[in-house]
Amino acid sequence: MNVPAEFALGKPYHHNSFLINGDLTLWDGPNADVYSSIQTPNESGDLAPTHLGSVPDMDQAHALKALDAATSAFDKGKGDWPTMKVADRIACMERFVVLMKQQRAAVVKLLMWEIGKNLQDSEKEFDRTVDYIDDTINEYKSIDRDSAKFHNHGGVYAHIRRGPIGVVLCLGPYNYPLNETFALLIPAIIMGNTAIFKPAKHGVLLIAPLLKAFKESFPPGVVNIVFGRGRTVATPIMETGKVDVLALIGHSSSALSLQDLHPKKNRLRLVLGLEAKNPAIILPDADLDKTVQECISGTLSFNGQRCTALKILYVHEDIKDAFLEKFTKAVDAQKFGMPWENTLLTPLPEPNKPAYIQELIDDAKEKGAKVLNEKGGTHSTNYIFPAVLYPVTRDMRVYEEEQFGPVIPVVSFTDIDTPLDDMAASMYGQQVSLFGKNVDKLGPLIDTLSNLVCRVNLNSACQRGPDVYPFTGRKNSAVSTLSVRDALRSFSIRTFVATKDNEDNKEILRELLDTHKSNFISTDYLL
Ligand code: G3H
Repeated sequence: MNVPAEFALGKPYHHNSFLINGDLTLWDGPNADVYSSIQTPNESGDLAPTHLGSVPDMDQAHALKALDAATSAFDKGKGDWPTMKVADRIACMERFVVLMKQQRAAVVKLLMWEIGKNLQDSEKEFDRTVDYIDDTINEYKSIDRDSAKFHNHGGVYAHIRRGPIGVVLCLGPYNYPLNETFALLIPAIIMGNTAIFKPAKHGVLLIAPLLKAFKESFPPGVVNIVFGRGRTVATPIMETGKVDVLALIGHSSSALSLQDLHPKKNRLRLVLGLEAKNPAIILPDADLDKTVQECISGTLSFNGQRCTALKILYVHEDIKDAFLEKFTKAVDAQKFGMPWENTLLTPLPEPNKPAYIQELIDDAKEKGAKVLNEKGGTHSTNYIFPAVLYPVTRDMRVYEEEQFGPVIPVVSFTDIDTPLDDMAASMYGQQVSLFGKNVDKLGPLIDTLSNLVCRVNLNSACQRGPDVYPFTGRKNSAVSTLSVRDALRSFSIRTFVATKDNEDNKEILRELLDTHKSNFISTDYLL
C-alpha cells in the first residue's frame, strides 16, 4: 500500500497529557493503545492493524478531579466564566478558533487513520467545525443584541437574557469525533457553562493536538479533557449528581444508563443526538437516476456510519425491478479504497463490524432475503462489501436494528400505509427521504411524515446539515434540538431581572447601566 508522503505516519503518537483546571498535566498511569483498522507491515513485516499511538487510560480519581475543576469554575454561579461579559467569552472562543485552525493538517490525518474517513470528508469535518464555531459566535452576538433591552409590562421592568445551566458532561461519537463533539461543547461553554469532555473510543488521538488550544484560550476549569473508558470516567462523574447537563451523541442505551446514575434526575438536562433508522420511500413516479444517486450517498457515505444514513429502503412494487437493477449496479460500481484515495467505501474502524454485518446478512438470508448484488457481502480485511438485501421482512434483525454500516435492506410495498405504519411503530423518528413527483400524492404524505419524523427530505438523501437547520428527532432518536441557534438555547435557560416600575428602581437601573457594575444588566450592543 502506498501512503502519500503527506499522510504517512511517523513514529506512533503517544499522547500523555490531560487538561484539568487549566493545567496540561503529564499522565503517569496506564495507557490505552490506539490502532487503525488500516493494515500496514508490523515490526515482523506482517500486515496488521497499524499502531497509531496511545492515550491515557485515566481512572476515577482523575475523572472526579476534572468534575471538581468544572464545578469550581462555575462556582455556584459566582465563577468568572459564568458571570463574564458576553464579549469576553466570545473573545476566548475567537482565540480558540485561530489556534484550532493551525492543527488542521494533524487532525485531518488522524481522522483518516483513526476512523477511516476519506480525505474529502475529513477535511469537510474540520472545516465544517470551524464554520460552526464562527457561526455560533455570530449567532450568540445576535441573541445578545436582542437581549440588550428592557421590557415593561404590567408595571414591571424586565431585562431578559439566556443564562448558563452549570456543569456539562460532553460525550461524542466515533463517526464525527470532532464535529459532533464540538457542536455540543462549543455552544455549551460559550453560554457560560463549564465542561468535562471525554473523547470517543475511536477518534480519540485527533483531539490531542487541540488540548493546548483549549488551555491557551479558556480560563482554568472551563474545559476539562480526560481520556479513558466511559465506565471508569463518566460513571463516577454522573453518580455525584453534580452534572447539570448530559450532552451526548451516541446510542440511547448509553444515554439511559448515564441518566440512571444521576441521583437527582429531574435536575439533569439532556441534550442527546441518538440512533435512527431513516427510511427512503420511493414512489412509482420517482426519477430513477436521481433517486439511485441519492440512495447511494444516503446509504453508503462513510459506509453508512452516520446517524442520518438511509438505513432501509421502501420501494413501490411498480418501480421496484427498475430501481433495484440500477441501484445494485451502482452499489457494485462503488470502489473500496484507503481514505486518501477518496473512495466512498473505506476501512471500518470497529474491528467487529464486518462480523456483525455478516450476522445481519445471515439472519436475513435464513428468513428468506437474497443478496441482490454480485459483490454484496464479500469480505476483505476490515471490510465487508455492502449487500443489498431483498425482500426484507419485519422479523429480520436488519429490519429492526440500526446497522450503522454497509448493508442495505429493501422492502417493497403497494400500499403507502405499509411504510407509514412501520414508521409509526418504529422506535426511531429522525428523518425520511421521500422520492416522487406527483404533488397530489406528495402533499398529504408530507403532512403525515412531518408528524412521524423531524425532517422530510424531498428527492434528497437525509443529512444533518446545513448546520443552521434544526437537527433533532422523535422517540429514541433525540432529546433537544441542535442547530447553530438551537444549541445555544439548549445549553442555556432564560433568566431575568425584574423590578417594579417606580422612580427609585429606575434610578438604580440607570446607575447600573452607567457604571457597568453588572455584566448581566447591560444594553451594550455587540458588533
Ligand atoms: O451521525 C450523524 C451525523 O449527525 C450525520 O451528519 O448528515 O452531516 O453526515 P451528516
